[in-house]
Amino acid sequence: MKKATVISIANQKGGVGKTTTALNIGAGLAKVKKKILLVDIDSQNHLSRWLGYSADGKPTISEMIYQEVSNVHSNNHTDFIRHSEQENVDFIPSNHMLAGVLGILGADSDSVNVLTRIFNHKFFTVYDYIIIDCQPSLDLLVSNALSCCDKLLIPVQADLLAYEGVNQMLQTLQRIKKRTDIGDFMLGILPTMYAKNTVISNEILQALKESYTDYVLQPAISYRVEVKNSSATRTSLVNHKNSYVGEEYMRIVYEIIART
Ligand SMILES: Nc1ncnc2c1ncn2[C@@H]1O[C@H](COP(=O)(O)OP(=O)(O)O)[C@@H](O)[C@H]1O
Ligand SMILES: [Mg+2]
Repeated sequence: MKKATVISIANQKGGVGKTTTALNIGAGLAKVKKKILLVDIDSQNHLSRWLGYSADGKPTISEMIYQEVSNVHSNNHTDFIRHSEQENVDFIPSNHMLAGVLGILGADSDSVNVLTRIFNHKFFTVYDYIIIDCQPSLDLLVSNALSCCDKLLIPVQADLLAYEGVNQMLQTLQRIKKRTDIGDFMLGILPTMYAKNTVISNEILQALKESYTDYVLQPAISYRVEVKNSSATRTSLVNHKNSYVGEEYMRIVYEIIART
């Protein structure tokens, strides 16, 4: 049985396009017939809400982590899974309770591998890709996502001081994977909110390419008002007709398939 490819989307900076990227890549991979599970591990749960989640009394990622740490194994994984008809993806939502889960995680004797243990279960082999949307931090939850992933995707806003955090992120990945050569674990660095006509965006793009060469994914995702509107209307761009950014994300989707 083939294991799902786990992609974590992380950057310790907030507002750089992580959730937008998770949603559009997930929905984009689903468009090309891949079976997708999106996992929200941000207590602000933007991704969950974007996918239409509202408190439904069913367990979330918080309970999933709690059960794993307390060694209570639910055989019914489907309890945790929701489905978005609109985007044709499954997802596991998070809620504000996730903030309290950090302490619980810390109590585990192998606290960095809790998510790995969860997603190694054979239930998840039905998926082609599991995509984890992280919170803007380098805490234990994000370390779990880095430990668990086959590939890391780092969205970087093509704006002032954007790549400050990238090196720290790469060093964290090295530490967690216990390797100096992390090339195999890097899906790439995705420049986002790229404003073609600004000097700063072009300088940042250039600097990223010089520092990180092959890691930098192309095309950069453009800064467009349609993206703001898509969060308001809660739809992905890849499923919008004639969406410019949707087409850029589809090109990234094909690049991801080629790199995984
Ligand atoms: N390409 C883009 N063009 C314009 N606005 C964008 C773009 N990508 C993301 N945004 C907006 O920027 C904000 C932060 O994006 P988000 O994906 O939530 O970032 P993060 O998950 O890293 O905090 C949101 O309001 C989102 O709509
Ligand atoms: Mg987010």
